[in-house]
Amino acid sequence: MAARKSKAIAAPIPGEQARINGHSGAQVRVRAQTKARGKSKAGSIKSAPSLTDFTHPVCSAKRIKTEKPFRFHLAGIAYVLWRDRSGAYHCVEDECPHRRASLACGHVVQDAIYCPYHNWRVRGDGQCASPSDPEVSFAVPRFRVFEHLGYLWMRRDEAPEPARETLMPAQPGWKFAGTAHVTMNAPLEIVMDNFSENEHVPWIHAGLGWDEARVASVDFEFEKTDWGSRVVYRAQQRPNLLFRLLLVGTDDTYINEFHSEFEPLRTTYYISWEKKDGRGKRPLATASTVYFVPETDGRTTLHFFFQYRLSALRFLEPIVKRSIPFLAWKEAIDDKRFLESAMQDASADLKGMKLRKFDRPIALHRKLLHERYLRGTKIGAGSAPH
Ligand code: FES
Ligand SMILES: [Fe+2]
Repeated sequence: MAARKSKAIAAPIPGEQARINGHSGAQVRVRAQTKARGKSKAGSIKSAPSLTDFTHPVCSAKRIKTEKPFRFHLAGIAYVLWRDRSGAYHCVEDECPHRRASLACGHVVQDAIYCPYHNWRVRGDGQCASPSDPEVSFAVPRFRVFEHLGYLWMRRDEAPEPARETLMPAQPGWKFAGTAHVTMNAPLEIVMDNFSENEHVPWIHAGLGWDEARVASVDFEFEKTDWGSRVVYRAQQRPNLLFRLLLVGTDDTYINEFHSEFEPLRTTYYISWEKKDGRGKRPLATASTVYFVPETDGRTTLHFFFQYRLSALRFLEPIVKRSIPFLAWKEAIDDKRFLESAMQDASADLKGMKLRKFDRPIALHRKLLHERYLRGTKIGAGSAPH
């Protein structure tokens, strides 16, 4: 992969200027990787792009409180993550270098994981040893894991470390409201298409956004940007009791401005409401950053990072903070149910689809998905999760 000279641009928060992100794994030459290794003419190890060039969220840190190994997938490859007694995290591919047993079925002692089959040991730094064969001495690639926003994040050992604050676009005044995740038994492209448009809102969702009576008056903007795309929907918010509790009026204009980025793949949805007849904004605004993580070719996990801004009525903060992750999670469950049923057998091929105005972001996102994120990486089938 050729090194890219330009720096990746992170999507700005609405109303802000774009800022340089600088954490893109795509900027750097890949020197070592776990799969598809090969020697260049100069003899240095060079390999194909991998999604681990980018920092990905793995799971809530709460899930790894003990020394029990945790298995997860990225692009069809299984990884095992474990935490030693000192609290340090370690990660390697979940495939014993001896005869490929799952290390996640083994146990942890100090910083090492032991394979359940012949008790080979893989230390946190990747060094391997065998109790029956003292001559075994080599290392497997390890992956960096760190904690941020109550989440564990991983990347390839040699990939550039991102500045923590770039993992979730934030600015003064926005407050962190928590995280959530939803796993969908659907391919990445089908999931991403769904999250690239709001046209389905009246029929798939019951809370956020407009209802069927208002579909003809939806205002839509779309533009290609340095970081990917910017899409804005404006429409009359439908009546909803839960949103009334969050200070949203029935006649308000619902505004959803979302920015999609591809290094790695994520979208931030900025949702706010304007009072009728231009009487100003409602006090509540939310920002939900969603990472779309392809686990296997048929399974995608969405990791959500929520923020909110409350410009008045601050006494409502505890309710707002608790409600946002729940309400957003509920909306994502609506999408999951739909994609896992009506889209179960749908081909993801754009050819032959009658793509219209609201689908314009989909065509661009597909292109950028391949150019900037996948870069030729195939999302493999993976094995069944333990
Ligand atoms: S397969 Fe892991 S030790 Fe043999
Ligand atoms: Fe949806």
